[in-house]
Amino acid sequence: MEFGDLIKGAESEGKEKHVPYIEVGKGRGRENVDVVRVIVGKEVPHPNTTEHHIAWIELFGVKKEGQVICIGRATFGAGYANPNARFQVPIADFKAFCALAYCNIHGLWQNSIEME
Ligand SMILES: [Fe+2]
Repeated sequence: MEFGDLIKGAESEGKEKHVPYIEVGKGRGRENVDVVRVIVGKEVPHPNTTEHHIAWIELFGVKKEGQVICIGRATFGAGYANPNARFQVPIADFKAFCALAYCNIHGLWQNSIEME
């Protein structure tokens, strides 16, 4: 088995939604601030209990020359913190963003977006 075999995407979704949605935009209130938001359960909230929750989200960026940068990780307190995170990132440095989300029951889920 390869590590990549553990990582699921939109094609594996069932009733509960796990794929991390990635949104790129401008920060509020300050100029020249780019942000990447990663949200699990944007349209259908994922369960958020001690028994079943999204434990963490990680965001990676792929630089124009191909280098992979681990931008950050957000961890969540089961039952209280909703699984969404905001990272302040110089978007122009990157050609793609990839996110991983971990559900304690359903495992690892990925998504990615390409920048123009
Ligand atoms: Fe789950």
